[in-house]
Amino acid sequence: MVESPFKPEILRGKVALLTGGGSGIGYEISLQLGKHGASIAIMGRRKHVVDSAVSSLKSLGIPAIGFEGDVRKREDAARVVESTFKHFGRLDILVNAAAGNFLVPSEDLSSNGFRTVMDIDSVGTFTMCLEALKYLKKGGLGKDPSTAGGTIINISATLHYTATWYQIHVSAAKAAVDSITRNLALEWGTDYDIRVNGIAPGPIGDTAGMSKLGLEGDSEQSYGEDASVSKSGEKWDIAMAAVYIASDAGGFFATAYGDLVCNSYRGLVQE
Ligand code: HXC
Repeated sequence: MVESPFKPEILRGKVALLTGGGSGIGYEISLQLGKHGASIAIMGRRKHVVDSAVSSLKSLGIPAIGFEGDVRKREDAARVVESTFKHFGRLDILVNAAAGNFLVPSEDLSSNGFRTVMDIDSVGTFTMCLEALKYLKKGGLGKDPSTAGGTIINISATLHYTATWYQIHVSAAKAAVDSITRNLALEWGTDYDIRVNGIAPGPIGDTAGMSKLGLEGDSEQSYGEDASVSKSGEKWDIAMAAVYIASDAGGFFATAYGDLVCNSYRGLVQE
C-alpha cells in the first residue's frame, strides 16, 4: 500500500452511505472516502461490526454514523437512507458493498440458498438505489439545484465473466448487479445526471470472500486459468478506484456515456 495519490479534500462536503461498509472492502472504501473529506454512514446487519467501524473512523476525525439494517428489507433501506440524510443534511454517494457468499456445488444448493444471495447482492443493491434516488437526483433534497446529481458505486466481482466452481448463486447475483449498474446509469444518468458505476474486484487479499473461497494465503499463486493474474489485490486498490469514481475526476464515467468498470481481474477497462 502506498500513500493516496489524491488530494485529501477531493470529497470535502460530500456524504457517502455504504452498505456492508463496516468490514472488508466496504470498510476500506468507507475509510478512504472519509480520509478524502467525505462524511460516512455505514449500514450493516451486525451491530458490533458497524459500531466498531464507526469508532475507528471517528478516531481518525472522520464524521461517521452507523445504522443496523438488512438490505433485503425495504423498510431498513428506507430508514437508513432517510436517517443518513437527516443526520448529515445531504446524500451524494451510495456504495453498495453488502454481499453474501458461500462455496457450494450447484447440486447441493437449495433454491432458497440461491435466492438468499440474489436477495442480498442484487435485490438489495436495487432497493438501496431506489430508496436513495430522491436524495441523489440533480437538485435533490438538501442539494444546491445547480449541482449535478450524486453517484452510485456498485461493488460486483469478476467470477461471472466466465464460470467459477461452486459459485453459481454469486455469479448470477453479481451478473445482475452489473446489469443494474448499466441500466440505472442509462436511465438515471440521462434523466437525473446521477453517475452509476461498478467496480469489479478480482481476488482481494484479507477479505471474507477470499477466505470463503479458500484462496486466502495464495497471494503468489495464479487464480483460475488466467496465468496473467499472479497475485491478489489489496482492499486499498479498490478503495482508490472508489475515491476516483466518486470525485469530480470521475465525472465522465457513467454508463449513459461510457461505463467505467474498474476490474482488477484484467486491469482497468472501459466498455
Ligand atoms: C449451502 C447454504 C450455505 C452453505 C447458507 N446456505 N449457507 N447452502 N452451503 N454454506 C443456505 C441455507 O441452507 C438456506 O437455505 C439459505 O442459504 C439461507 O441461509 P441462512 O443461513 O438463513 O442465511 P443468512 O443468515 O441470511 O446468511 C446469509 C449468507 C451468509 C449469505 C448465507 O453467508 C452471510 O450472511 N454472509 C454475509 C457475509 C459474506 O458472505 N460476505 C462475503 C461476501 S464475498 P435453506 O434451503 O436451507 O433454507 C463476495 C465476493 C465474491 O461477495 C467474489 C470473491 C472473489
